Amino acid sequence: MSANKSLLILPGDGIGPEVMDQVVRIVDWFGKERALKFDLDDGLVGGAALDAEGAPLSDETLVKAEKADAVLFGAVGGPKWDKNPFDMKPERGLLRLRKDLGLFANLRPAICFEALASASSLKQELVAGLDIMIVRELTGGVYFGEPRGIKVLSDNTRRGVDTQLYTTPEIHRITRVAFELALKRRQLVHSAEKSNVMHTGMLWREEVAKVHEAEFKEIALRHILADNCAMQLVRAPKQFDVIVTDNLFGDILSDVAAMLTGSLGMLPSASLGEEDPATGKRNALYEPVHGSAPDIAGHGVANPLACVMSFAMALRYSFEQDDEADMLEGAVARVLAGGMRTADIMQENGSQVSTAVMGDAILQELEGIAG
Ligand code: IPM
Ligand code: MG
Repeated sequence: MSANKSLLILPGDGIGPEVMDQVVRIVDWFGKERALKFDLDDGLVGGAALDAEGAPLSDETLVKAEKADAVLFGAVGGPKWDKNPFDMKPERGLLRLRKDLGLFANLRPAICFEALASASSLKQELVAGLDIMIVRELTGGVYFGEPRGIKVLSDNTRRGVDTQLYTTPEIHRITRVAFELALKRRQLVHSAEKSNVMHTGMLWREEVAKVHEAEFKEIALRHILADNCAMQLVRAPKQFDVIVTDNLFGDILSDVAAMLTGSLGMLPSASLGEEDPATGKRNALYEPVHGSAPDIAGHGVANPLACVMSFAMALRYSFEQDDEADMLEGAVARVLAGGMRTADIMQENGSQVSTAVMGDAILQELEGIAG
């Protein structure tokens, strides 16, 4: 068996393959120049898998994902499959990966690069230096709760049902992830829910408080209603450090946070499972927060940086390579400081480049940093 670490590449749909191409070049660079070799395998997911294999994620690909040390994921979805029945939607592939790999902890850092502060839709001084970590619960809540479905009633009207559901162990484990991260940051956690209208929200608030009281008293905990949290994120985002929240609110709040950094094209994420006590292995999937962007797919103009920085997160969280992750993030910062921009982050005086040229630039900066 190879001593190398293994990566499963799932480019998916839309701009997924384009941005992933750049990441694979960077993975290769680390193998050649930094003696950090990965065994790469790839597979289909989403619409690409539906077309070729008849399901949004085949059992074979799921097994590969379970075996890999980490999965790098591009994006799924597109107009071609929009009318598909629920179980045949491209997104089901991603949701199956999350659920079956037990990836309950979704880390979405929203960092505003110095050079991009003026690309944000918010005033520069509000976002300059922004560094937030959204910790989203990823395998529970309304995304998976039963019962769910659409039913035709006797009078021929229809009723749709989704179920928001959380148990105390689910809340406790995601809360611990948030507090552990906060220990290494600014020691401040906001917990966002709707305890004013939802039972799951009340339970969430109470159980987060219990974990805080019992295990992390030294960290400041503030409970915040999710709607207020969305408002505060655009009013005064720098008041936040770590935000812990459920699956649906995390989905929404992380899109808001992404725009603060200049573009949805800038936000990476890590989805982590529980560590297996016997083997020390922890399932992990890394993906950009942006979607498949079908409107620009195939034109070579997509921003690869969120996907590149998702690989940096893999270096950090799956492979304990903090220095290499710093190096890669440093290369991204230098490219941005040099004025290179994909269309989504284009600014006055910037030079607009393609996806591949952005990849070239990062490789060049890596060479420079590595010396
Ligand atoms: C995300 C996406 C997904 C989600 C979709 C593609 C299923 O929006 O990762 O934020 O809703 O979780
Ligand atoms: Mg989303």
